[in-house]
Amino acid sequence: MDTDKRPIYPIQVWDITETEFDIKNNYRNETTFALSNGYIGTRGTFEEAYDFDIDTGLEGNFVNGFYESEKIRYGEANFGSPLLSQSLLNLPNLKETHVILADEKFDMMDGTVEEYERVLHMKEGILERKLIWTSPKGKKTRIQILRLVSFARKNIMLISYRVTPLNYSGEIQFVSKMQTDVENHTRKTNPIVDYGPFGRRLDPDKMWAKNNKMYYEGTTKGSQLTMACGSSHVLWKNNDLIKELSWQKDIKEMMAEISVSVECEQGTTVKLDKFICYSTALDMGKNELETFVNKELEAAETDGGLYLEKYQKEYMESFWKIADVEIKGNEAVQQGIHFNLYHIIQAAGRDGHTGMGAKGLSGEGYEGHYFWDTEMYVLPVLIYTEPEVAKKLLDYRYGTLDQARERARILGHMKGALYPWRTINGAEASTYYPLGTAQYHINADIAYALSLYLQVSGDVEYLKEKGAEILIETARVWADVGSFAECKDGRYCICDVTGPDEYNVLVDNNFYTNLMARENLRDAVGAVSYLNENAPEVLSRLEEKIDFSIEEIEMWNQIIEKMYFPYDEKRQIYPMDDGFMMRKPWDESKIPPEKRAWLYENYHPLFIMRHRMSKQADAILGMYLHSNLFTEEEIRRNYDFYQEVTLHHSSLSTCIFGIVACDIGYLDEAYKYFSQSARMDLDDYHNNFYAGIHAANMAGTWQAIVNGFAGVRCQDSKLRFKPVIPKEWEEYRFRIKRKGTLLEVTVSKQEARFKIIEGDRINFWIGEKNITLKGEGDQYVEKI
Ligand code: BGC
Repeated sequence: MDTDKRPIYPIQVWDITETEFDIKNNYRNETTFALSNGYIGTRGTFEEAYDFDIDTGLEGNFVNGFYESEKIRYGEANFGSPLLSQSLLNLPNLKETHVILADEKFDMMDGTVEEYERVLHMKEGILERKLIWTSPKGKKTRIQILRLVSFARKNIMLISYRVTPLNYSGEIQFVSKMQTDVENHTRKTNPIVDYGPFGRRLDPDKMWAKNNKMYYEGTTKGSQLTMACGSSHVLWKNNDLIKELSWQKDIKEMMAEISVSVECEQGTTVKLDKFICYSTALDMGKNELETFVNKELEAAETDGGLYLEKYQKEYMESFWKIADVEIKGNEAVQQGIHFNLYHIIQAAGRDGHTGMGAKGLSGEGYEGHYFWDTEMYVLPVLIYTEPEVAKKLLDYRYGTLDQARERARILGHMKGALYPWRTINGAEASTYYPLGTAQYHINADIAYALSLYLQVSGDVEYLKEKGAEILIETARVWADVGSFAECKDGRYCICDVTGPDEYNVLVDNNFYTNLMARENLRDAVGAVSYLNENAPEVLSRLEEKIDFSIEEIEMWNQIIEKMYFPYDEKRQIYPMDDGFMMRKPWDESKIPPEKRAWLYENYHPLFIMRHRMSKQADAILGMYLHSNLFTEEEIRRNYDFYQEVTLHHSSLSTCIFGIVACDIGYLDEAYKYFSQSARMDLDDYHNNFYAGIHAANMAGTWQAIVNGFAGVRCQDSKLRFKPVIPKEWEEYRFRIKRKGTLLEVTVSKQEARFKIIEGDRINFWIGEKNITLKGEGDQYVEKI
């Protein structure tokens, strides 16, 4: 990780600005300027559709949940290895638009570009490119292009293309294309894995162009899923709709285009509003797609581009009203936080049957797979700020319980559900089980996020409808996977799992896993007891549906009581697993600098695994999530130990160390870790931003402030704060929702102020002090 990088973009708290076009930064900038609404994702590529090669750019258009599968080619497979891959499929590109300015085609590689700026307006949710272009023959034109992926209309993206001839009058021609000959980059984003998808994967079913509209429908070769897309176009001259237009069309095998020309006088602005629609047969019957896309396009046309822009701003305004974290005294950090939160809210699936990829919808990295990143890093942010979106992400896990049950059977568990380590459609998609399926902790991570949601929101209905079933089914696997080992004094041991740390795999008694499993069981016991007392009819329904008997909780209680944890008496710490302290100490000086961050690319896994070091936060993460179960002294001893042995080779690590450092009063160190997270993607510390965002770390920076500096925890149904302020800041402010009440917290050098913004009552703790605020505007001030 290269944290000494200078800011790539000018420091502006609400904007990210590219001040010149430089091809060598193109691939990375495509991710920076990627837009999404949790359903459609599009990379920040240009409308001109330059022909970039595999190292300089990737046109990317995605629909959340839409994937292609291929038969996985294993050199050596084992029983239970997934047979089919899942990759977020790169879909036809409809952004491509060319403008011909009185016989010269706009092309930034040709002529002269002046006053160039591409700005991501994070406050508004709009991407804007503006420039003045002088053609090789000397024609000067002002060009302004707005782009948004609509929060108002799930299936719609808008490109609003404005052209103003500055020193000439003439014919302006717009050529709008639909390129369907698209492929994933695969080799670039996944070089050491033979996974696919290879080549063009969509077979066309329909394609047409008529007047101002184009339409395409295609079905994937492997997953046999159908997607549809289309575009429609409206032109304006100086804000007047141009009604009579003569559209020309051209259809080839893999491409369709329509074009139109208008006369434009010097100083006059012609605007093309291009509405793009994507939908898939995951949402409706295949035969309904064409009608649906047409209707959506017509509705978007009726709304108009200006309405979509207005709604986009309103949506973002309401998002920032709750989720913004304001920092006084450090604009660079402020910009980083905005960038992170912006990408998070863009990326989260919110229709109840899609999740959120580790890279959001910003690129092909990690095949677009959903991991635990969603539950452990992103969900806590959404639970406190956008609980409705959080709930939809939990719905996605609920909706895939059947596949998780099937997976549990494959792994030999007669009861319960085992969630996949990596997936899109709910089935396991990881091919290397030591780093994949063995990460059983995903079950407890999902249960943890669910429990946090229930505690923070107080949504008991959700527990009854869906939550209890998830808690019971995940708990059942924990009750089956281990045993009360005689050699460990009858304690419950879980062997051959991989914890979060991917440099120590297939270990016995991973501390994090055992801890999270125990708490998963505890939450399941709690849920069953609650239902038994308060909603026996729900419990009976569940008993029947999943063949559950309340007697099962007897065993769960025994496991809770007897869970084993590795312990090093001499150091008084919890080693990561039973073998951790036996492993060879890591000597970084023996590793050439250029190989240090890329161990799996340069060393055999056995070499890595035999060393006493860790890729990322593991035991420490468990101690953060369940900090109420440890003393501060205990956490400090463990932190001191893990600090030494953790390499932070995963982007999921530093934010967690920052939070724990806060808990134990290591404020300077906390700030150091926080700084490594806050602008990680914006300044591309990992040099791989081209492949997509690191959503977990982006959300982790919010946690580092709210759960770290402000010390927020919701444990045992109590909301707690332990606010401190880094010396680098003058003040910070954030808002969180608890049981429908919106609380604002402002921390300055002298005091922490808690104020109800909306809602009627909130109760919380600061140390031993219990505070209740009773209504809107009510506040409490704590000296710090
Ligand atoms: C990390 C995992 C993470 C995955 C996706 C890996 O490098 O070790 O913890 O889930 O990336 O972000």
